Amino acid sequence: MSIILTVDSLAKDFGGLKAVDGLSFTVEEGTMVGLIGPNGCGKSTTFNCISGLLEKTAGEVHLFGTDTKSLRPDQIHSLGMTRTFQHTRLWREMTVIENLLIPPRKQFQPNVIKSLFSPKHRKAEELRIQRAWEVLELLEIPHMAHNLASELSGGQSKLVDIGRAMMGQSKILLLDEPVAGVAGPLAERIFKYLRRLVNEDGITLLIIEHNMEFILQAGVDKIVVMHQGKLLMEGTPQQVKNSTAVKEAYLGDDDEEEE
Ligand SMILES: Nc1ncnc2c1ncn2[C@@H]1O[C@H](COP(=O)(O)OP(=O)(O)OP(=O)(O)O)[C@@H](O)[C@H]1O
Ligand SMILES: [Mg+2]
Repeated sequence: MSIILTVDSLAKDFGGLKAVDGLSFTVEEGTMVGLIGPNGCGKSTTFNCISGLLEKTAGEVHLFGTDTKSLRPDQIHSLGMTRTFQHTRLWREMTVIENLLIPPRKQFQPNVIKSLFSPKHRKAEELRIQRAWEVLELLEIPHMAHNLASELSGGQSKLVDIGRAMMGQSKILLLDEPVAGVAGPLAERIFKYLRRLVNEDGITLLIIEHNMEFILQAGVDKIVVMHQGKLLMEGTPQQVKNSTAVKEAYLGDDDEEEE
């Protein structure tokens, strides 16, 4: 199996704060990888550096063998990567289905308007609409298709946001806490579907999840554990479950009590 994402000695400082501090890990093609760690350990910042939204303080990120150093977020997206945000960003004044049919914000390709008028556009648009309905069925919200995004609850907004990431043809998806605020049974069904995307469509997933118990039984291939900006360990769910270092890191984090 080939490595499609390499994070090498990544560092990101905010003033004196080392949010990410020399982090290295890899993601292999066609796998589902969990990125976990106590609150504030640098998970979302890592995504922001990988997707090009934040300039790295140090280190390198290679996606499909390309050094992303000088690339803008939309150029990184064009390589075949889509990411979601921890705080959902929907177009509030558009309907749910419209939100699925537009590319994710900040990931527009410069030629998006031009492409709307291409001859192939009509057929592609029909397929996209069909896919949008499939995604709504899967997420159990087809009845909300014509509601405004501003009318959705937090959990429902999360679902539409995952749906939007699934709409694209990206080879790798980075999902930042995709099921936070989503009820347990539906969260489990969504993870089962994500697993199918990996197994059947060969999609690669890197998923931030704050709930340790949940990720341990979510069927991921590998878990990357961060602590205070650094790699604490990388291993199978079983290895992570048995790790004293991981237990100590989580116990030492007061904020985890909210989970
Ligand atoms: N734009 C920013 N400016 C300054 N500090 C920031 C910024 N973004 C994040 N931080 C800080 O960097 C650290 C890592 O934050 P980050 O959001 O990456 O953590 P996280 O692991 O995603 O946490 P959570 O589990 O709460 O989502 C935190 O101390 C946070 O306050
Ligand atoms: Mg976060």
